[in-house]
This record gives sequence, structure tokens and C-alpha cells, in this order.
Amino acid sequence: MTVFIDDLSDNQENIKISFINEINTEHLPKFVSYTANCVLRNESLAEEFESVSLPCDCKNLCDQKCPCSLNSNAYSNHKLSQEYNNHTGRPIIECSELCNCFENCNNRIVQHGIQFHLQVFKTERTGLGVQSKEFIPKFSFVCEYAGEIIDEQEAYQRLKNHSPDDSNYIYVLKEHSSDHKYIKTIIDPTYIGNVGRYLNHSCSPNLISVPVRAGSMIPRICFFAKEDIFPLQELTYNYGEECIFDESGSSHINSCARKCLCGSGNCCGYLPYVNDNWLK
Ligand SMILES: C[S@@+](CC[C@H](N)C(=O)[O-])C[C@H]1O[C@@H](n2cnc3c(N)ncnc32)[C@H](O)[C@@H]1O
Ligand SMILES: [Zn+2]
Ligand SMILES: [Zn+2]
Ligand SMILES: [Zn+2]
Repeated sequence: MTVFIDDLSDNQENIKISFINEINTEHLPKFVSYTANCVLRNESLAEEFESVSLPCDCKNLCDQKCPCSLNSNAYSNHKLSQEYNNHTGRPIIECSELCNCFENCNNRIVQHGIQFHLQVFKTERTGLGVQSKEFIPKFSFVCEYAGEIIDEQEAYQRLKNHSPDDSNYIYVLKEHSSDHKYIKTIIDPTYIGNVGRYLNHSCSPNLISVPVRAGSMIPRICFFAKEDIFPLQELTYNYGEECIFDESGSSHINSCARKCLCGSGNCCGYLPYVNDNWLK
């Protein structure tokens, strides 16, 4: 018997996100609700992301000189650019509705949302996972990691209630700002989240994560294809991915070492794991 849902996003994405289980009869576990974009858990967090970037004055389609893109050379041909170097410390800021340019300018990708038919499916060994129903060319935007944005106190609280066998969804992004300071953003899609919450870890992943600002200064963790991805290939990223920007990094919190079942030739044996001072 096959369990199938046509669209688990409830029409909140551009494209339907289906669910299929051909392994057993389990349905999609109920978590509180689907959101296509991050939501702030409480208003006090809004102050941290209050600043806005200045809009550009570019005519028609922006090019590399657009002040929004801050010379990050991040995008070309509506994909992540081959030249994009995540060690420059320059954040990616997309053009916004305040900009003068066209809706299809080169500096807008993530804000247009998911473009490929993604499907949540029951895997053989790692619970649920995500696969693509269609071909995804290298460097294309795939989806983001959306959930509640929470503060450290709340994150500690939530982790305290975790048992070692629970799946963990909390993602901590640390971006270098200035004077050895970090901007820390904690995303938890456990209760409110998007398709990104079902992405599994692999030691040979086909996605990379990049923080992007689009429409507000809240960073979005965005997944791009590291290579061409073929239909029905599982989509994965490295939970312990080193370094998004210089001297900073991102980590997917697993508070104890768990066996990695990614099955890749260079599997390091365990899921990336972060000890008690993971927030420091
Ligand atoms: C963000 S969730 C991914 C979706 C999850 N598989 C599910 O069924 O909801 C992270 C959890 O998935 C499992 N997982 C992800 N990648 C794994 C891997 N390579 N090996 C073993 N377990 C994995 C672990 O339980 C981990 O805490
Ligand atoms: Zn523009
Ligand atoms: Zn602009
Ligand atoms: Zn592995």
C-alpha cells in the first residue's frame, strides 16, 4: 500500500510538495503547521533584525554593480554563481520591493520561492527525507530552512525536553559581523516549519546552505544544488557544514553522537554533533 498526500504545504508554496510512503503505512507525522518562511517566535526578536538595506536605483535588470548585491558576485543566470566565494564575509542581500529594478532582475532568486517539484518520502534507514521529482541543475535554488526563530533561552528549554532518540531540527547560524562578534540566528522548524525540516544529513551531500537576506534582515538559510541532481535522488546537506562566512559557521544541533546512516563512501560514521556549549 502507498500513502500519498498531494500537497503538504497547503498551497503555501509555488509548487505542490507531495508526500509518499511506499515502505509502510505510516502517515506524515502531525507537527503544528506549515510555513513557507521563517516566523519570529516573539516580538522582542524583531528589534534584532530591524535595520533595512538601502534600495537600489538600477534601471531594469541589475548587474554586478548593483549596490544591493554589495559586489558579492553571488548570483548569475538566476543561480548561485560559480565565482561565489562564501569566505568573503559579504552577505547576500537580494533586491527588494523598494528597489527600482524589475521583478526578474538577476539579484532576486530566493524571494521567488521553490521552483522544483520536491517530495517528502519515507527512506529505508533515516526516517523521512526529501527527493526531487525533477532534474535540478547545479547551483539552482532548491528551498530554504524555514521555522520559528527563537532565542537562546528558548532553544535551551526546547533541547532540555528532547530525548536522545528524538529527531533534532534546531539549526544555529553564526555569521561574523565585526570585531570578532557574531550574529547568531537560531531556527527551529520542529513545530512550525517548511519542507527543509525533512532534509537528511549526508557526508557527501548534494546541497549547500547559504544565508541570504531577501525582503528583511532576517537571514534565510537557503539550499542550492552543489551538483546536477537527477529525479528521485535524495536531497541532503551536511549538518556540520563548515563555515558559511569567514570565521563563522552553521551547525545543526545534535546533542549527542548518533550513528550516521548516510551510506556514502566517505561517511564519517557519526552525525555532526555539538557539545553543551553549542550556542557559545
Ligand atoms: C532535520 S531531521 C531530518 C528529517 C527526519 N529524518 C524525519 O524523519 O523527520 C534530523 C533527524 O533525522 C535523522 N537523520 C538525518 N540524517 C541522518 C543520517 N545521515 N543518519 C541517521 N539519521 C539521520 C536524525 O534522527 C536527525 O536527528
Ligand atoms: Zn535588482
Ligand atoms: Zn536592488
Ligand atoms: Zn555519513
